[in-house]
Amino acid sequence: MRKLIVAGNWKMNMTLQEGIELAKAVNDFFDKNPTDVEVIIAPPFIHLPDVARSLTGVQLSAQNCASEPKGAYTGEVSAGMIRSCGARYVILGHSERRTYFKEDDNLLHKKIILALGQELKPIFCCGEVLAEREAGNHFNLVREQVETALFALGAEELSQIVIAYEPIWAIGTGVTATPAQAQEMHAFIRDLIRSQFGDPVADDLTILYGGSCKPSNARELFSNTDVDGGLIGGASLDADDFIAIVLSF
Ligand code: 13P
Repeated sequence: MRKLIVAGNWKMNMTLQEGIELAKAVNDFFDKNPTDVEVIIAPPFIHLPDVARSLTGVQLSAQNCASEPKGAYTGEVSAGMIRSCGARYVILGHSERRTYFKEDDNLLHKKIILALGQELKPIFCCGEVLAEREAGNHFNLVREQVETALFALGAEELSQIVIAYEPIWAIGTGVTATPAQAQEMHAFIRDLIRSQFGDPVADDLTILYGGSCKPSNARELFSNTDVDGGLIGGASLDADDFIAIVLSF
């Protein structure tokens, strides 16, 4: 049985005090109402240690890590530092990192190796812009992202990875992929992984959908065979909305 996951990507939002309050609200709810879903929150780096102290059952993720293990890289944060703050996951290859910070899949491969070396599970993001979908190139594009970043890994390493399909045209826009569009791409990604890593790894792989996922559409998205949860942006900043999404399974 593959793990169902709902992860909240806070992006560059929340003061430390607001973040702790939000983390506590989510954590307290699931303390009192246990769930089989793995609930993850991904605050900004600087909040990680304090938020970690507020969590019991909810898991912690970073939103990025450096592409080097340590050294003279002013302003960077290493996978080892993140792990030492209590995080278990790290989001890698988010479209905002790809677009604004020019991260490509070769660089992301390096980050994935460093994260795995620190026992951090990468949440690897992939997805196309609208023009690529309209040109009918979205499957090729996602294939290239997955192949470049992940195919050189071993099956054991791949089994530590979560993939998040986030069509860029759906992120922060209020436009959600239809359940059929999400299912189609998730099945495609799972088949890709199957072709390279075999049945057990593909069947156990958790594939999340991200892009304007909210309480009103989560149930329909999550009801698809290959949609194993969500990577939530805006709606993860509100405890009630985020909790409602987790409860959509
Ligand atoms: P929104 O849910 O705000 O569209 O963001 C999705 C996302 O980018 C999660 O990583």
